[in-house]
Amino acid sequence: MSSIKAPLSQNLKVALIQIKAGAQKAANLQKVTTFIDNAVAQATGKLDLVMLPECFNSPYAVDKFREYAENIPNGETTGLLSKLAKQHGLYIVGGSIPELDDSDNNVYNTSLTFDPEGNIIAKHRKTHLFDIDIPGGITFKESVTLTGGDKGTVFKLGNFGNVGLGICYDIRFPELAIIASRKPNNAFAMFYPGAFNTTTGPLHWHLLARARAVDNEMFAILCSPARDVGGDGYQAYGHSLVVDPSGNIVAEAGEGEEILYAELDKELLPKARESIPVHFQRRFDVYNDVTEGAKVSDK
Ligand SMILES: *[C@@H]1O[C@H](CO)[C@@H](O)[C@H](O)[C@H]1NC(C)=O
Ligand SMILES: *[C@@H]1O[C@H](CO)[C@@H](O)[C@H](O)[C@H]1NC(C)=O
Repeated sequence: MSSIKAPLSQNLKVALIQIKAGAQKAANLQKVTTFIDNAVAQATGKLDLVMLPECFNSPYAVDKFREYAENIPNGETTGLLSKLAKQHGLYIVGGSIPELDDSDNNVYNTSLTFDPEGNIIAKHRKTHLFDIDIPGGITFKESVTLTGGDKGTVFKLGNFGNVGLGICYDIRFPELAIIASRKPNNAFAMFYPGAFNTTTGPLHWHLLARARAVDNEMFAILCSPARDVGGDGYQAYGHSLVVDPSGNIVAEAGEGEEILYAELDKELLPKARESIPVHFQRRFDVYNDVTEGAKVSDK
C-alpha cells in the first residue's frame, strides 16, 4: 500500500473568491480584479490557484444568460481572466459564465481554467441542466435558454496533478467525480463552482461535497456566490467549502463576500485511501465500472 502514487504531487494553496454579481458587467469584472489582487496580496506565501463562483459576471437569472453571454476566447471576461492569471502567475478556475457559441448560436454555462501563463487549459460546459416545474410551486428551466455540454472535464493542473470540474447541479451526479478520480484520470480534486439557494444549501451543500469527497477519496472544492442580503436577486447559499479526501471540512466561508484560503495537503489523499481502501477494492464483477466508455476531455 505504501507504494500508492500520490495523485497530488505537492501541496496546493488555493483562494476561493466568494462574491456576488450585480447587473453591471463592467462593475462585476472590476470586482473580480480587485478581489483577485487582494487574495494575492493578503495570502501567506505564494498562492497557486484562485477560484471564482458560478455566474460571477452576470446576474443568476435564466432570462439574462443570452444578454450577458460572450464568445470564448474572444470575449472580455476570457481576456480579463487570462490577463490576471498571467499577471499574478497563478491558476484561475473561472467559476462559470454564459458562453455564446457563434457556430450554433447556443448559450452554454461554461467554466474556463487558465494556467499561470494565461492560457486556457480547460473548458467545461455544464452537463446537467436544471429544469424544474413544480405545480403551484417554482418553475426554473435552464434548458429554455441554455444547452448542456456533452462530456466530463478532467485536466492537468501543471505539475500538481489532474483535477476534474463540474458546475453546480453537476455535483448531484456522482458519475462525473467517479470518472475523474479513477484510472486513467486519477484526479486529486473536483472543482464545483455552484449557486445553491437557501433551501437546498442547508439541506445538501455540505452533504454533497462530503459525499463526492468520501466516495472517491479526493478533495472537493466548492465556490459559491455571496448572498444578496437585502437585495432582490437570487439568494445564493454562500458557504464556499473545501473538503479533504476523508470528508473533513478544511475551510468554510460565511454568507457574505469573502476570500477563503485553504492549503490542500498532499499527504491526505494517500492516507485516506490506505486507511479505507475502497479505491482499490471495487468489484466490477458485481456492478459496472462507469468509467468504461466515459466521455472525458479538457476542452
Ligand atoms: C449556470 O447554471 C446555473 C444553474 O445551476 C444557473 O443558475 C446559472 O445562472 C448558470 N450560469 C451561467 C453563467 O450561465
Ligand atoms: C431553492 O430551490 C429548490 C429546488 O429547486 C426549491 O424547491 C426551493 O423552493 C428554492 N428555495 C428558495 C428559497 O428559492
